[in-house]
Amino acid sequence: MKVGMDGLGESAVEKAVTPQDKLSAHLSDDMAAVNRLIRARMASEHAPRIPEVTAHLVEAGGKRLRPLLTLASARMLGYTGVDHVKLAATVEFIHTATLLHDDVVDESERRRGRPTANLLWDNKSSVLVGDYLFSRSFQLMVETGSLRVLDILANASATIAEGEVLQLTAAQDLRTDEKIYLQVIRGKTAALFAAATEVGGVIAGASEPVVAALRDYGDALGIAFQIADDILDYGGSDAAIGKNTGDDFRERKLTLPLIKAVAKASPEEHAFWVRVIEKGDQRDGDLAQAMVILQRHDAISACRAEALAWASRAKDALYNLPVHPLRQILSELADFVVSRIS
Ligand code: IPE
Ligand code: IPE
Ligand code: MG
Ligand code: MG
Repeated sequence: MKVGMDGLGESAVEKAVTPQDKLSAHLSDDMAAVNRLIRARMASEHAPRIPEVTAHLVEAGGKRLRPLLTLASARMLGYTGVDHVKLAATVEFIHTATLLHDDVVDESERRRGRPTANLLWDNKSSVLVGDYLFSRSFQLMVETGSLRVLDILANASATIAEGEVLQLTAAQDLRTDEKIYLQVIRGKTAALFAAATEVGGVIAGASEPVVAALRDYGDALGIAFQIADDILDYGGSDAAIGKNTGDDFRERKLTLPLIKAVAKASPEEHAFWVRVIEKGDQRDGDLAQAMVILQRHDAISACRAEALAWASRAKDALYNLPVHPLRQILSELADFVVSRIS
C-alpha cells in the first residue's frame, strides 16, 4: 500500500508507533479473534450482574498486553493453529479477574479511566464476578487439551494469589525489604507475564531452551512493568495511568520507592514513616511530604535504574530466540514499559 506524507493510505502496521501498537497491528486478526472470544465467554445467561460488570471493565479496553504476548510468542515460533487465541483469552481473563479482586483489596476507585466495579456496584459483585472469570479461564485453557499449558497457567494463578497475600502481610511493615518486594511483584505481576509468553512457546512446540527464554523474558518484563507502575503511583498523572495516584501510600504499601527511602531515613524521617505507614495516621500534606523525602534520597531515580536493568534483562533473554520481526518488537516493548518513567 502506498504511503502518503499525510499518512493517508498507510496500513495499520506502518502507522503503528508504540511497540504495543505494532504488536496489535501485526497480530490484528488474532487479536480480533481473542476479543470475540472474550466477549462470547464473559457473558452469562443466568446472572445478569455478570455481563454488566464484565462489560464495564472489558469495554474500557485496557492495553491487552498479556494476550498480545501470548499471540506474539506463538506466532514468532511459527505456530499455525488456533489454540493460541484460546490461551490469549485465558490470560486476559485471569488478568481481569485479578483486577476485580485487586481493586476490592486496594479499595481503589479508578481503573482503566473509569470508576471501579467495587465503587459502581459493590465488593461482593467484584469478588464473585472475579471468581466467575477465573473459572471461565479454566474452561478455556482446558479446551486446548494441553496438560503442560494447564500446569503453567494453574501455577501462575496460584502464584499471583500468593503474591497478593504476601503483599498484604508486608504492608504497613517498615521492615519489608527489597527481597520481599521482589517476591511480591514477581508473584502478583510477573508470574502472569511469564506464563503468557511461556504458553505461547509451548503451544507452538518450541524447544526447551526457547520456552525457557520466553519465560525469562516475561518474568523480567513483568518486574520492570511493576516497578514502573509503583514509581508512577508517586508521580504519574491520574489521567495518564487511568488510576488514582497515591493509592499505594494510602494503602500503606511498602513499594520500592518507599523501601529505598526508609532504608536511608534520618531519625525524623523514620518517625514520619512510622506515623503514616505503620500507624496509618495520615493527614493532609503527608503524601506531598513523602514525595519530598523520596526526592531527598533519590529513591525514584534508584527505582528507575532498577526498572531499566530488568528491561535490559528481558531484552537479553530474547537473544535465545530465532530472529523474527516480532522478536524485534518484543525488544522495543521492554524499553517501552520503562519509557513511562524515563
Ligand atoms: C494493571 O495491569 C495491573 C498491574 C500489574 C500494574 P495493566 O496496566 O496491564 O492493566 P490494563 O489491562 O492495561 O488495564
Ligand atoms: C497489580 O497490583 C497486580 C494484580 C492486579 C494482581 P497493583 O495493586 O499494584 O496494581 P494497580 O496499581 O492496582 O493496577
Ligand atoms: Mg491495586
Ligand atoms: Mg494491589
